Amino acid sequence: MGNGCSGEATPDPSPKRRRYSIIRNRAPSVTSAELRKEIMKTELEQAKAREKLSDDMRKEFERERAKLQQDIHREMVAEREKMKKASIIQENDGKAQIDQYGERIKNQRIDWSKPESKKIQVVVRSRPLNIREIKEEAKDVLYMDEINNECTILTPPSSGQSSSARKSVTFVFDRCYNGNTTTAQIYNEIPYSLVQSFLEGYNSTILAYGQTGSGKSFTMQEDPDHIGIIPRAIVHIFEGKESDEDQDTQYDIRVSYIEIYNEEIRDLLSADPTQKLEIKGEKVEGLTIHPVESIASCAHFMRLGLANRVTSATTMNAHSSRSHAIFTVYMRVVYTDPVGHEHHRKAKLNLVDLAGSERHGKVGISTNSGPSFNESKKINLSLSTLGKCIQALSQNNIGHVPYRESKLTRLLQDSLGGNARTMMIACLSPAETNFEETMSTLKYAHTTKSVNNRPVMNVDSDPKDQLIRQLQTEIKTLRNRLNTKDLDG
Ligand SMILES: Nc1ncnc2c1ncn2[C@@H]1O[C@H](COP(=O)(O)OP(=O)(O)OP(=O)(O)O)[C@@H](O)[C@H]1O
Ligand SMILES: [Mg+2]
Repeated sequence: MGNGCSGEATPDPSPKRRRYSIIRNRAPSVTSAELRKEIMKTELEQAKAREKLSDDMRKEFERERAKLQQDIHREMVAEREKMKKASIIQENDGKAQIDQYGERIKNQRIDWSKPESKKIQVVVRSRPLNIREIKEEAKDVLYMDEINNECTILTPPSSGQSSSARKSVTFVFDRCYNGNTTTAQIYNEIPYSLVQSFLEGYNSTILAYGQTGSGKSFTMQEDPDHIGIIPRAIVHIFEGKESDEDQDTQYDIRVSYIEIYNEEIRDLLSADPTQKLEIKGEKVEGLTIHPVESIASCAHFMRLGLANRVTSATTMNAHSSRSHAIFTVYMRVVYTDPVGHEHHRKAKLNLVDLAGSERHGKVGISTNSGPSFNESKKINLSLSTLGKCIQALSQNNIGHVPYRESKLTRLLQDSLGGNARTMMIACLSPAETNFEETMSTLKYAHTTKSVNNRPVMNVDSDPKDQLIRQLQTEIKTLRNRLNTKDLDG
């Protein structure tokens, strides 16, 4: 066994020699400039890969959209063919009427993306004469032309004037509804499209305004035999959520309910609804906001708030609202796209039932003191500030807008001239005895029509993200239409 064979291990070098040999055998050193270059290169490649992925995704979505559109077109042609055959076999009058009604609803919904829809949309609704007015033989002085959206009010006769010579004043609004129009019909027109745009991510507001006893709470709230706009909007929102929600799209819906009573803000959903809250910055400090998972839990909060609201009997209305109430629905949606990016969208829907404008003597508040007089003064103060803001905003050159003069206008600042789509429902009494109040509501509502808002969709600002989200929404809508056979839209 010789020591000189080639496989023999070399003796272990000293620690110093070992260190030198490691340094000698190491890969050539990388300068920091080269390292930075290397990092930048990798980042660039990553960005390109991401770009390609979103481009691929966009192309994929566009292909899917085109395919769905083709499917819808094919189905539509087949459906028309079927309908043609069916109509030859059977002339079904009832069905034709329903179709006509559906067509009317489609035409009456508004396209909020049009520039003119940036203005506050104003509709007027007259209630029927009530039993007291019928007993007093009060005349109905309102005429609603629902086709041309014109509301005409007959002015009182001047002394010695014959009834045929009486004058009238006509106002044009976005919609006009007479005493026979149901809330379901009204909801299906502008409020429907407004709630739909809330689901798309636009802040939205529906405001009921009018004289005491004219039907604001009737129009907005729920009572045992009538479903107003707030409960209808709740059902609509949850239906929208359910049809859109899946494992990639998650909704978070919350609600709050505020009343402004005697110029004090109260939380109608808190343990102590009489506690006074303050506005700090853009928020109401201490306001409780409640997550709601279903129509039932949302309706629970709506009813709880309504039960806590201040109402009392006046000579004009047995259940007169003595406060302004704002029911707010907050929506946050997170959509995670196939690449794992999150896209956010949020919006706020204010549903406002104002207290009525009133003349003290007429509603049975005769003394110039006491809680009722104070209440009434504060109601009128908020409404006159609202009027002043609307007046200021309706001018071509908008100067100072006195939002800060009342709590109501501070809370509704965004809805009046700001980032929101807004509609006002002006409620009217048709009785001649209420001529002055009705005329003043009509003028107020007419001025409101000139207020321009600046709504923007509250979504992520990256244009590519927006495009992908838009395509995704469009695809979902197309799929729904295909499933529900809504082929003409
Ligand atoms: N379109 C309508 N059809 C039938 N009844 C109506 C209609 N509008 C209002 N009413 C009835 O008129 C009465 C007064 O309505 P409501 O309480 O809604 O008035 P309001 O404008 O809210 O008054 P306030 O400012 O005093 O609160 C109620 O009894 C309501 O049921
Ligand atoms: Mg009311």
